[in-house]
Amino acid sequence: MADIEKSWLTNPRRRNALVRLAGLMAASPIASAMAVGDPRPLREHRRALSLGEMQTSFDFEPVFFGNVLLPVYDYTAHGDGSEFTLQRNRQAFNWVNILPGRAAVPVSQVDLSSEFLGVAMKFPIMVAPTAAMVPLHPDGEVGMFKAATAASNTPMILSINTSTPVAKVAPAAPGGTLWGQFYPIENRATTQRSMDTYQNSGCNGIIVTVDQQASYYERTQQDRNFGGRVRAIGFGAGGGAEAPTGAARYRINGGRLWYTWQYIDDMRKMVKGKLVIKGILDPEDAKLAIEHGADAIIVSNHGGRSMDYGPSTLEVLPEIATAVNGRIPILFDSGVRRGADIFKALALGANAVMIGRTTRWGLGAFGVSGAQRLIEILQQELVQAAAAAGCAKLSDIKRVMVKANFLANNFTSRNVRFLCKADIRPTWTDRLGPWKDWGCSRAGRALTTLLPTACLNFFRCFTSARRSKCCCRMPRQYTGVRSAHMSSDIPSRPGSHGLSIGSCRS
Ligand SMILES: Cc1cc2nc3c(=O)[nH]c(=O)nc-3n(C[C@H](O)[C@H](O)[C@H](O)COP(=O)(O)O)c2cc1C
Repeated sequence: MADIEKSWLTNPRRRNALVRLAGLMAASPIASAMAVGDPRPLREHRRALSLGEMQTSFDFEPVFFGNVLLPVYDYTAHGDGSEFTLQRNRQAFNWVNILPGRAAVPVSQVDLSSEFLGVAMKFPIMVAPTAAMVPLHPDGEVGMFKAATAASNTPMILSINTSTPVAKVAPAAPGGTLWGQFYPIENRATTQRSMDTYQNSGCNGIIVTVDQQASYYERTQQDRNFGGRVRAIGFGAGGGAEAPTGAARYRINGGRLWYTWQYIDDMRKMVKGKLVIKGILDPEDAKLAIEHGADAIIVSNHGGRSMDYGPSTLEVLPEIATAVNGRIPILFDSGVRRGADIFKALALGANAVMIGRTTRWGLGAFGVSGAQRLIEILQQELVQAAAAAGCAKLSDIKRVMVKANFLANNFTSRNVRFLCKADIRPTWTDRLGPWKDWGCSRAGRALTTLLPTACLNFFRCFTSARRSKCCCRMPRQYTGVRSAHMSSDIPSRPGSHGLSIGSCRS
């Protein structure tokens, strides 16, 4: 080593320079962040959240998405047609304010227990029937029932399309309440057999679902366009691309579209326990349900999976509650994601609320403990909402505690009736009705009817084109791990574009 290099190595000026550089680095914010440990180091952004980090029901969905196969996720997440009603279900909750003005009560004093059709419930919450849970998690329906029972004996309704037979599910959670859901089967002997299976397994309540008559998941079309598989008509995720025949040519499940009130009368004789009709969206249907012997009704649009452009359930709930006038209890579902949502539904006339997709998020994300935690989060949020609104008990939650700012109630009874004879009719002639009464000219009527439709279609094309540009396979609601809100998607103004599924009655 040359002399000049040796002198540089031992030179105090060099040492000073190094000391200053070290001081500078130590003072930098990067170094101090490294020293205390960044609470969210970059690598952690990739990990899935753990059960302990779940704070709202929305937190479960991304974990669920990461755990299951894409067709299983799609089957849970999506809705009928363009998913207008799916979104509207969520938006409607945003249009209802909980009114301030009463003194809050301490959370410890809130007791929301009640009795529903003979079942003692600590919270007015039930698990809605949703099909095939084993693909979500090996715990499947057995796990969901255990979770519901562990979460303060929350009653669960088992879907007829269960992936675990009722005889296996029912004994899994001793002391729990399990009811059975059922889609009408025209053959009465087969109906009777299904009723017997439920009743022999200890299901004291039978839920007959009447809204799922002609649904079709447009997601299939998207899949086709993006190179995916075409889903078979009917139940379940996935499916082949066989050439459809009969009603299926019109994308309608051949086993449906014949429902009548006579069928309900026949079922009433077969059901020894409680008979509950699920899928009521119209006050007249609610009254008829009572006349035909229903013990309760469920105001539901199948979570936006049964008829696109139908109303959100929250919007029709007050009218139905008025029509029912306390004669039978009302259950409510579709779009419920938070305790405050449950509070709003209770205030607008529901006696209890059912949770659909979110329970699947819980189970799919963390199995039994996930589903249990999810239900408990909703219970806690409901108690908080009730306490903040000054309600110590269920009967304190009243309609005056909320203000519904629904944009416009354009839905006539005609447009949302389900129980009818098979009859699909175009609705635009129906919608001409009022104009005819007011003596408008034919051209004026056509213009006022068709123009909004054209605008809406343009809007839909526009938004779907924008979506398809950026979407690929990631669900569009994932804009951030903690903001998977389906509701925030399209802030469009609802219109009067209902698809009428018949209006005649038996
Ligand atoms: C994946 C999935 C499967 C469903 N399967 C059934 C079913 O078999 N029977 C039924 O009556 N309802 C079924 N539903 C509707 C639910 O019971 C409930 O009405 C709906 O999920 C409520 O809306 P939400 O998911 O927004 O809470 C299903 C819903 C989903 C999401």
